[in-house]
Amino acid sequence: EADLESKLPLKGKKILITAGPTYEAIDPVRFVGNHSSGKMGFDIAESAANLGASVVLISGPTHCKIKHPLVQVIPVVSAQEMYDACHQYYQDVDVAIAAAAVADYRPKNIASQKIKKASDDFVIHLEKTKDILASLGEIKKDQFLIGFALETENEIENAKAKIQKKNLDLIVLNSLQDEGAGFGKNTNKVTFIDREFKIEPMDLKSKKAVADDILNKVIAHFYD
Ligand code: CTP
Ligand code: CA
Repeated sequence: EADLESKLPLKGKKILITAGPTYEAIDPVRFVGNHSSGKMGFDIAESAANLGASVVLISGPTHCKIKHPLVQVIPVVSAQEMYDACHQYYQDVDVAIAAAAVADYRPKNIASQKIKKASDDFVIHLEKTKDILASLGEIKKDQFLIGFALETENEIENAKAKIQKKNLDLIVLNSLQDEGAGFGKNTNKVTFIDREFKIEPMDLKSKKAVADDILNKVIAHFYD
């Protein structure tokens, strides 16, 4: 019995996970988006459920699929929809992990009809989206809050600033330095940085293995 429990260390815990890109409409047929595959977030969701957690997976448009009795998928399209869904579930969860590549900007106006080709240049006015993770950090009570950071320069300093700005407990810094890591790939090279700025560089490994490492941090939070 104790053995079974030790294999389901997250049984009874509720985890919110964001995944995938967001699409920000320009007109009825076009959007501003990014190349996030959703794989990292889906791998975290699967690992969490396999450890016994109840997972709410809030995902932007992706080809990823998951079928697990403990995973509820909430599909969203835009940053605003992801924001609303996150706030609907956040009060109720023990852990939140923001793996989504949320658009930072969206078109200020969405054309109601398909925009016709006309002049030689065309300008789209963008406005900032809400920072979902920062908004969760602001209203955080007991939740263990994990964010990601994608940086190409001053990686550690920028990631530390995000921990403070968004009131995180842990940040997963994605290194694009390494070939084989990041968008569209099956592998990731990450560095963990915690609230106390303890830095832990990890080896290049599969996203599945990175997901397991992240959940080991979650387990350590509850048991250490
Ligand atoms: N994030 C979010 N909502 C946004 C933008 C980002 O929840 N509107 C989350 C991401 O899911 C990620 C973390 O914030 O967990 C960091 O995202 P990142 O793009 O690295 O940082 P930004 O704060 O957007 O800053 P910048 O892109 O300028 O580096
Ligand atoms: Ca960003």
